[in-house]
Amino acid sequence: MDILENRHILLIIGGGIAAYKTPALIRALQSKGAQLRCILTKGGAEFVTPLTLASLSGNKIYQNLFDLTDEVDMGHIQLSRAADIVLVAPATADLMSKMAQGLANDLASTTLLATDKPVMIAPAMNMYMWSHPATQRNMALLQKDGIQLIGPTVGDMACGEEGLGRMSEPEAIVEAVIDFFATQNKRPQDLPLTGRRALVTAGPTHELIDPVRYITNYSSGKQGFAIAREIAKLGAQTQLISGPVQLADPENITTKRVETAHQMLAACEAALPCDIAIMTAAVADWRVAHPPNQKLKKTANPTPPELVLAENPDILAHLGSHKKRPHLLIGFAAETECLLEQARAKRARKKCDWIIANQISPTNNIMGGDENSVFFLSDEVEEEWDKMSKQHVAAKLAGRIASYFATQQKQAETENDNKHNKHH
Ligand code: CTP
Repeated sequence: MDILENRHILLIIGGGIAAYKTPALIRALQSKGAQLRCILTKGGAEFVTPLTLASLSGNKIYQNLFDLTDEVDMGHIQLSRAADIVLVAPATADLMSKMAQGLANDLASTTLLATDKPVMIAPAMNMYMWSHPATQRNMALLQKDGIQLIGPTVGDMACGEEGLGRMSEPEAIVEAVIDFFATQNKRPQDLPLTGRRALVTAGPTHELIDPVRYITNYSSGKQGFAIAREIAKLGAQTQLISGPVQLADPENITTKRVETAHQMLAACEAALPCDIAIMTAAVADWRVAHPPNQKLKKTANPTPPELVLAENPDILAHLGSHKKRPHLLIGFAAETECLLEQARAKRARKKCDWIIANQISPTNNIMGGDENSVFFLSDEVEEEWDKMSKQHVAAKLAGRIASYFATQQKQAETENDNKHNKHH
């Protein structure tokens, strides 16, 4: 039986140039056995014809909210009820914005508001539109509403620029849909990380200079939040401890907000024991040794005050030698030079199992940006991962963690069997 046999997908095609890929997407989904109905927005129809889509999907294409035949034939309510999932591809900035606000002024947006089915979206837009705070805000709202994101990816765009915002390729979208059904079908107890407790740190810390000033860094928390989300999806009971960031609490995750390295350490201690700890936080290495209770005044300091710093606790190293050391301890290493040597040394020094290392430069926008290009270092391997979105890095790492525990479990079972056989 085909993997998507008897799966009904309502495909909503937004008005972006990436709509030209939807015929290939329809074919790819159908080749796995899926049944499709399509809603084509006005903008979408500029890039792909209803006739092409109707011939491919074998079904009428729905375009107008007030088309009487559509309403008699199959209204927007039934359209979304008859599907197992709603897939929006391409999801334009406009469509994402409408979804985030709950606007319902055409067939696509009305259907999306009326649906009681899971929704997946494959965004596609220019890189500046994607990274605009408004789009990022909308994306965060949509994720909070439980909407699943596929991509976007990095690559050449129709507008001639290169960056994050390109729609995922049809094969990747199909893969995400298959994954979705695979996890959805699983009872919670069958997810690969069910029963595992995980701790993730994220974001920067703020170290007070005086009551109105602080020391910090460029960390946005995006990578850590994405990791927390991905491992929670695989069933891990996840606790996210974050420094000050502009990101909403993810769904199904206990999120604790802290300010300083000391508070982060205390929150991590309180989260032990756990099976997995992933320390993505850019903890400030130093704090001001004795921050005054009053604001430092220029008038009282004719020469600039000298800050006396004290070293902060190293949370990762602390967990590495802890008596309740997490079973799988993962650190990050952000370096500006000699990346691999530094990362190897850091892994040994902090006694963690894996290190994800990335090269930071004033121009690569890794701290704060949406993409990451990393090396994965463990006892066994040193791999370079292609440049990809932080969400993609998170999904890949979550997959690695799941296979690590699957292997551990298999080994334990084999040992048990061997013991059992010896006794007989
Ligand atoms: N880390 C931590 N507590 C600290 C400093 C770092 O838990 N006080 C963790 C980070 O979350 C990350 C790893 O340690 O997982 C490496 O952080 P990084 O800032 O790259 O290393 P540093 O300890 O600052 O070492 P160096 O100054 O030599 O780069």
